[in-house]
Amino acid sequence: MKILLISSEAAPFAKTGGLGDVAGALPAALAARRAGVRVMLPLYDSVAAEYRSRMKFIGAQYIPLGWRNVYCGLFELKMNGVVWYFIDNEYYFRRGELYGHFDDGERYAFFSRAAAELALSLPDWRPDVIHCHDWQTALVPVYLRVLMAGRADDIRCVFTIHNIEYQGRYSRDLLGDVFGLPEPVFNGGTMEFNGGLNLMKAAVEMSDAVTTVSPTYREELQYPFYAHGLEGVIAAAGHKMHGILNGIDTAVYDPASDPNLFDPYDDGSFEKKVANKTKLRKMLGLAPRKNTPLIGMVTRLASHKGLDLVAASLDRIMDLDVQVVVVGRGDWHFEQLFRNARETYKGRFSAQIMHNPGLAMKLYAGADIFLMPSLAEPCGLSQMIAMRYGTVPVTRETGGLKDTVTPYIAETGQGRGFTFANYNADDMMYVLRQAVDLYRGSPAAWRALAEADMRIDFSWTQSAGQYLSLYRQVTGKK
Ligand code: GLC
Repeated sequence: MKILLISSEAAPFAKTGGLGDVAGALPAALAARRAGVRVMLPLYDSVAAEYRSRMKFIGAQYIPLGWRNVYCGLFELKMNGVVWYFIDNEYYFRRGELYGHFDDGERYAFFSRAAAELALSLPDWRPDVIHCHDWQTALVPVYLRVLMAGRADDIRCVFTIHNIEYQGRYSRDLLGDVFGLPEPVFNGGTMEFNGGLNLMKAAVEMSDAVTTVSPTYREELQYPFYAHGLEGVIAAAGHKMHGILNGIDTAVYDPASDPNLFDPYDDGSFEKKVANKTKLRKMLGLAPRKNTPLIGMVTRLASHKGLDLVAASLDRIMDLDVQVVVVGRGDWHFEQLFRNARETYKGRFSAQIMHNPGLAMKLYAGADIFLMPSLAEPCGLSQMIAMRYGTVPVTRETGGLKDTVTPYIAETGQGRGFTFANYNADDMMYVLRQAVDLYRGSPAAWRALAEADMRIDFSWTQSAGQYLSLYRQVTGKK
């Protein structure tokens, strides 16, 4: 099986969020199962010199995009059993930040068109499956089926929805000029949605299979609340929709070898986790206190991550006599709220308003409870990382959170964390209090729960197997 994965980001080369983690780890997991895997991503200026210096220049060509012919260089890097291709165009990808530019539509149209063209012209390697991710690469199946019809009919397309909130919606005026597509794909066609263009809709319709990053998210997308307008499109695609849970890179996220930690540990040396907590408190200026659980949050500070619930109940959380550390950036009013809390609750609240992966890992290790009350969470990786680091999750039952965090039952000791169903601050407080009570009242049970969480297999092995069987299903090949 030959698989070409096309993504706008992939760790460790370029990453803004979970998509980067997935596109970074899934290829190696597939390769470990003897699939031939290659990946294409943009050559951003932020790709580190240590990788650039190992890249080989393959060639350059001009890619047609509407009325333009656009330069496209191609570099190659072999790593972890995977061939990584980098598509070079400095005008589009030398921008500092990956996303948020006025011409993102054009940038990823170029990337998608270039990737589609290159996929068909690689010397002695032709993919059986092209696997695309989110709106940035949603045009790949469209280009293959519309502009390159007849040239790629033997190749199957799989499209993964990591987050349906970002669909790539544009004015219809961009159809020919920017995306280089003919009028029929708009009028009554696959690109049209509510009078404008919708890239994700087109990808869902034109792909042979569509996956979501958790089984529960696949179910949730039937409802307007989660599908952001695309519920009808998803319903029509029901026969080819699959929910496959993400894994995490267990070699990277490993408390026994993570270089960010003060003291490495595993499920047999839990006291060292406590040492991480002590040192983290010291580093952040939190008071040393006995029997006081540390609640951690590593998150984008945005409403859909459940921050409204936290804002509504911040004082009640602090009334539980806990300490809290928040690491993340985001909406100004949440940043302000946490900066203020740092003043109000001196020595008990630490607001680290920054994107800081090293500090985030110290918090995964040093916290006792990981709070993640998302409004929607297609999969969520943080809760899995937290559990692997022996930090017990408190989560809302949505998307991948529901699939990975089963509710703790005191009588039997079963379950992995503390969960609530309705998006409601009282319900969140109820289970958060249960978690704090267990921590204080039953240290042995707490430790057993945390250690059991550390032993859960969150590796990519199982998910990679599921993707492989899906590729086999759509290609009819072994
Ligand atoms: C998106 C989703 C997140 C998921 C990630 C990786 O960022 O919001 O829930 O874990 O993609 O699939």
